[in-house]
Parts: sequence; structure tokens; C-alpha cells
Amino acid sequence: MNLILMGLPGAGKGTQAEKINNKYNIPHISTGDMFRLAIKEGTELGKQAKQFMDQGELVPDEVTIGIVQERLSKDDCKNGFLLDGFPRTIAQAEALQKLLAEMGQTIDYVVHVDVPEEKLVERLTGRRICPTCGTAYHVIFNPPKEEGICDKEGSQLVQRDDDKPETVKNRLSVNMEQTQPLLDFYDKKGYLVKVNGDQEIDEVFQDIQGFLDK
Ligand code: AP5
Ligand code: MG
Repeated sequence: MNLILMGLPGAGKGTQAEKINNKYNIPHISTGDMFRLAIKEGTELGKQAKQFMDQGELVPDEVTIGIVQERLSKDDCKNGFLLDGFPRTIAQAEALQKLLAEMGQTIDYVVHVDVPEEKLVERLTGRRICPTCGTAYHVIFNPPKEEGICDKEGSQLVQRDDDKPETVKNRLSVNMEQTQPLLDFYDKKGYLVKVNGDQEIDEVFQDIQGFLDK
């Protein structure tokens, strides 16, 4: 199964991706997570990405397409993949089409997790992540068992640098501009399905399973 999860920042892509990965056992490929790992490791890619991410801007297409191309060529993607946060521009979507054609693969579903814009700021500013495993929590909507501590790793949770209120605003506006043309692109190809992301986390997942189990 080849899937793409789309949605504005804070829509719940990462949260749903983890559930999809657990149930269907397909690799979760998040460009945002890959960039954050590169920043943590201090690599050249991390240095390049950080200057854009800190402003809530998109990392340039050629950099982003390059890392996805490399990741999709790995063996674990042969039986499916789950892209989270990629593509985010038409140029990325076209590059992906080309790449998949070369690999003899197609997309099964593009799942749009739809959440009204006014809910997203609260989701983003209340998010806390585990610096060890990347799991996202929310101080109100999805708290860990022990306040401030990851359930799985026991690590102290942190806030993402780009979840500070001043960056969140720009991230949302940059992404809103890019999202509609992409939704139209995939709708025309017949891949697009929409789920209501403004429900409990498990309810959103049930709706997603409704499509994937067909
Ligand atoms: P990325 O890491 O992809 O960030 P994003 O798209 O802004 O999305 P988020 O990760 O913020 O949100 P999410 O939808 O995963 O929500 P989550 O599940 O965590 O990208 C970061 C940056 O990297 C970009 O700004 C850009 O600079 C760069 N980048 C990445 N990909 C790129 C690309 N393709 N091209 C160019 N640049 C790129 O949930 C959010 C919060 O809400 C959590 O606290 C969660 O617990 C809570 N929550 C989740 N679901 C629910 C629910 N149903 N109800 C209530 N709360 C919920
Ligand atoms: Mg995410």
C-alpha cells in the first residue's frame, strides 16, 4: 500500500501515521522528521534545512525531493510506504510521479486530514514531543501518563522550535497557499480521499481504516 497523508500543520498527520504504521506495518516517511534528525546530528542537510524551518518556510524543492528519492529507494519501501508532509508543492508532486513511474509503482490513496484552520494554532502550541523517539503528545488533547514525560522512553518532553507562536503563524500561511493546488492535483488523478480530522484521534483513525481496509 502506497499512501500519502496530507493536511495543514497540526492536522494530525504524524499522529495518524504512527497508528497506520502500527497496524499496516508500512514505513512512515516524514520529511519533517528527517530534517529534524539531520539538525540534531548537525549534518550539512540539517544546517541547510534549519534556516528555512525556523522561519516556518519550506525547504527548497531540490533538497527535499533528493532526500525522499533516496529514502524510497530503500528495501523496506518495496511493499509500501506512507509519506507524511511530502509532497508539499506541485513540483514535488510531479517529481514523485516521475519517481514512482520509474519504480513501477503508483499511489493508492492520498488521505487529506481536514481540520479547520482555527483549531490548528492550539494543537501546535500545545504539542510536546519526545526528543528520543519523536512521539507527539498534546498538553490537553493527548497528554502522556506522567506530565512532561514520554510514555515509551521516559525522556523529558520538549517543544518543537517551530511550534513557538511567532513561527506557527507563518507556517500555517505558507502551507495554506500550497495545499489547495495539491489537493486539486490528486483529486484529478482520483487518489484523494478526505477524512474529518476534527474528531477524537481514534475516530479519525477509524475513518482512515475505512478507506484502507476496502
Ligand atoms: P513537518 O514536521 O511535516 O510539520 P507540519 O507539516 O507543519 O506538520 P506537523 O508535524 O506540525 O503536524 P502534524 O499534522 O504531523 O500533526 P501531529 O500529529 O503532530 O514539517 C516541518 C517543517 O519541515 C516545515 O515547516 C518545512 O520547513 C519543512 N518541510 C517538511 N516537509 C517539507 C516538504 N515536503 N517540502 C519543504 N519543506 C518541508 O499533531 C499536532 C498536535 O495535535 C499534537 O500535539 C497531537 O497530539 C495533537 N492532535 C493530533 N490529532 C489530534 C486530534 N484528532 N484531536 C486533538 N489533538 C490532536
Ligand atoms: Mg508531523
